[in-house]
Amino acid sequence: MAAEAYQLEDIPGVGPTTAEKLREAGYETVEKIAQSTASELYELAEIGEATARKMIKWCVSQTTDDTETDAGSSDAGADNVPMNAKRLEIEDIPGVGPAIAEKLRDGGFLTIEGIATATSSTLSEAAEIGESTAKKMIKWCREQADIGGFKTGTEVFEARLLIKKLRTLVPEVDELLGGGFETQAITELYGEFGSGKSQIVHQLAVNVQLPEELGGLNGSVIYVDTENTFRPERIEQMVKGLEIEDADPQEFLRNIHVARAQTSDHQMLLIENTHELAEELKKQGKPVKLIIVDSLTGLFRSEYAGRGTLAERQQKLNRHMHDIFKLCDEYNAIGLVTNQVMSNPAVFFGDPTKPIGGNIVGHTATFRIYLRKSKGGKRIFRLVDSPNLPDGEATFLVEEGGLRAC
Ligand SMILES: Nc1ncnc2c1ncn2[C@@H]1O[C@H](COP(=O)(O)OP(=O)(O)O)[C@@H](O)[C@H]1O
Ligand SMILES: [Mg+2]
Repeated sequence: MAAEAYQLEDIPGVGPTTAEKLREAGYETVEKIAQSTASELYELAEIGEATARKMIKWCVSQTTDDTETDAGSSDAGADNVPMNAKRLEIEDIPGVGPAIAEKLRDGGFLTIEGIATATSSTLSEAAEIGESTAKKMIKWCREQADIGGFKTGTEVFEARLLIKKLRTLVPEVDELLGGGFETQAITELYGEFGSGKSQIVHQLAVNVQLPEELGGLNGSVIYVDTENTFRPERIEQMVKGLEIEDADPQEFLRNIHVARAQTSDHQMLLIENTHELAEELKKQGKPVKLIIVDSLTGLFRSEYAGRGTLAERQQKLNRHMHDIFKLCDEYNAIGLVTNQVMSNPAVFFGDPTKPIGGNIVGHTATFRIYLRKSKGGKRIFRLVDSPNLPDGEATFLVEEGGLRAC
């Protein structure tokens, strides 16, 4: 709503000429810009891509009702999702001006993290800079991105003592997971359309609100919905399905903060901007314990289809996963992302058990679960490549009241 109060001319750096161009290109409102991608804006309104990105960022930050509780209440601290602390862009690297930034982007180096993991020879070639400059640049980016930042074994051990587990309440599945979904980690659910990814996500959005003695974490939920598949009715059914006296579905809905992402850039910004909401929830005594992105890859896949710019997509996904992980780490929360794989392996991506987003998602997610349908409504839940648990399978059913044992 607040976005409507703003005119295009209120956007920092937008004067009457740019505003005119924006309107001609169909961007009449701040809201429309918030939902655009930098490349669209750049092409349609003839402004630089970096400017376009800044503009989108500002507009998203003004679009305050992006994140709302699905019960439609506006008093749950979700109205305000201001900007996070400033994220470093490649222009912030010492010695990088617009010309080099442009070359870097053309060469597929879009982020600080991307440069931090580059080799000096590829970077020097891409940006047409000397190799020693490239080395300095990489060093600086590594320091900023905190890549290769070491913690002592004791610190890691102490952090791990705080890990909590969220139960699905399907005994066979919880046992396979060594007690449940772990905090301080991202779990990726992948499988075909209809395999049960969103059902698990809904169930966990309910269970996480339960007290610990009932398998929950007494926490709230941040839910980025990219495919419009969040269903409050399903939450209601699942709350009833718990058969807990006095459990009020409306209260469960109030603790789920849902935002619809329109584009992959928008999706990334929503996660970047959740810090304030997370702080607010912590103050209210219902800290965020579950961060959902359903689907993680859908928008990325459609936007980058056939563009031949896989490197760009992967760097963005990598950054996005990194942002989700930081939230999980900071709030001792669970990251839960979904990834749809195609049914016909011959036509699409080879091995159907290899999720889209490839290794980038696979390497950043701590746990990966492959879901598939089996006979008689049974669903198979397969744990793949866990760092500390044996691989294995469990089965479950999806019923009106939620996930159930077979
Ligand atoms: N109310 C319900 N009762 C029983 N089964 C349901 C209900 N809602 C959804 N399902 C089951 O869940 C399936 C959809 O699973 P979903 O998690 O949305 O798939 P995806 O993996 O594509 O996210 C449906 O095909 C149906 O079998
Ligand atoms: Mg789904």
